[in-house]
This record gives sequence, C-alpha cells and structure tokens, in this order.
Amino acid sequence: MDRLNAIAPEDLVQRHARPGMSLVAVLHAIQDDVGFVPPATIAPLARTMSLSRAEVHGVITYYHHFRQSPAAPVTVQLCRAEACRSMGTEALAKHIEARTGCRFDAHKHQNHDGHDHHACAGAVGLESVYCLGQCALSPAMMINGELHAKVTPQKFDALFAAAMKRVEETV
Ligand code: FES
Repeated sequence: MDRLNAIAPEDLVQRHARPGMSLVAVLHAIQDDVGFVPPATIAPLARTMSLSRAEVHGVITYYHHFRQSPAAPVTVQLCRAEACRSMGTEALAKHIEARTGCRFDAHKHQNHDGHDHHACAGAVGLESVYCLGQCALSPAMMINGELHAKVTPQKFDALFAAAMKRVEETV
C-alpha cells in the first residue's frame, strides 16, 4: 500500500490544517506531504476551512503549482514567464512537445473518468511554471525538481535522455 492510500483524506486535512492558516498554506503542506492534492481532500478542506467546495477547487486549479494527481516519473517544468519568453521559451516548448510526444499542462485537464492524462509516452509530464528566479539565465526549467538554466533544445535533449535513463534504471 502506498503512503497516500494509508491516509484517509479527512486525516490528511486534519494533519495539516491549523487555525489561522490560509487555504493556500494548507494546500502547500498537503502537497509537500504526499506529492499532490488528492481530489478527495476538497470536501474535508471545505468543511474545515468554512469554504465551499467550488472555492477550494478554484484555488487548486488557479495556482499552477498544485497538482491533483501524482507527478509523472519524469516531470519537466518549463518557465513560461516574460523573461524566459523573450529568450525563446515558446520555441523550446514546441521542441519539448515534439521530442516527448506530450502536451504542456495536460495534467490540469482531467478526463471524464477523473484520471489525469499526463501519462503520455514514457510517463512524462510537462508543466508550465511562471518564474523560477533564474530570469538572467533564461530560458529556465526544472526536471524532477532540478533547476537548469540557459536551456537550448540540444541541452534539453541531453537532460531529458539522462532523466529517462535514471527512470528506466529504477524500474
Ligand atoms: S521569467 Fe523565467 S526564470 Fe524568471
């Protein structure tokens, strides 16, 4: 049984929600704990924080940082903010999509069966983020939490191949 399945959504919320905390702070704590914000926590979060389910859902989907399913084994987070855009991040995004066969931010759009469809070829997830604090070294990205700056298509290919290799070695 994985860690998440061992924790009931109610317990997960009670573990992290403290009086006076903002919803965003509680969501951060939950995601830091189990890697994402399980949809089943929306109802207990709403009850605990005296909010509607729609308000909780709205905050989760508004902030790109929050995910509603576990991260893909190789998760690429590309900065799409202004400084990186001026240095070609959109062309880089197209290259990455062609290279991986995945779409950016597919994880934000769930299928009707409730499952995310981020798990494209090779279990890769592509996510847009907005400023990684590396504006002077743009375009910037993270691959599985590791920061990379001045990323070119060639540099991405090498980083991506290395990340895929690491995943294959752990299977
Ligand atoms: S705009 Fe991309 S790192 Fe700041």
